[in-house]
Amino acid sequence: MRSHPGGEEHTRRMLELAEPTPGASVLDLGAGAGEAVALLRSLGYAARGIDREPRGGNVETGDLLRTPFPDGSFDAVLSQCAFFVSGNQPDAIKEAARLLRPGGKLLLSDVFFEDPLPLLEKAGFRLLRREDLTAAWRDYYLEALWREDAPCCQIPRGKCSYWLLIAQKEEQHGSL
Ligand SMILES: C[S@@+](CC[C@H](N)C(=O)[O-])C[C@H]1O[C@@H](n2cnc3c(N)ncnc32)[C@H](O)[C@@H]1O
Repeated sequence: MRSHPGGEEHTRRMLELAEPTPGASVLDLGAGAGEAVALLRSLGYAARGIDREPRGGNVETGDLLRTPFPDGSFDAVLSQCAFFVSGNQPDAIKEAARLLRPGGKLLLSDVFFEDPLPLLEKAGFRLLRREDLTAAWRDYYLEALWREDAPCCQIPRGKCSYWLLIAQKEEQHGSL
């Protein structure tokens, strides 16, 4: 079973919206089995992925909240359905900001229990696009419950939304 709502279709949608420059360096945080890393490489991007429990050969072991990469190492950071699972979504967003060069883009799809905009702005991002995937998220989890194979994350309780977000790291940000 795919391990985020929308599968490859939503990964492609994020790329379509963000338009990373050809050959851009992209890091997938919480890359899981590495499907997005494989897709990105097939499209010509210099992609790497890290996960605390990699499930594929093209994913390195690492904690997305404390990655070993220097500041500003990547043109783009992608993450699908992993920041919430990490248990510290605000710090995950901050780490993504640290990893991006100024002007770099965050391609994020995730569960939110609050408005994502303040979280992004606090970390030094400007929101470029947002699409509400809550309906797809609901279908995804109903399917997972039906099959009894909800993958690698706890089912969140309460009213939540699921957003596809494209944000750009500000050229200057006081707290970074
Ligand atoms: C729902 S899965 C999504 C996997 C992949 N992004 C995808 O869409 O197929 C969430 C992933 O986040 C990873 N993850 C959660 N917390 C993490 C952390 N602190 N550091 C690295 N990976 C983490 C899990 O191991 C899991 O592979």
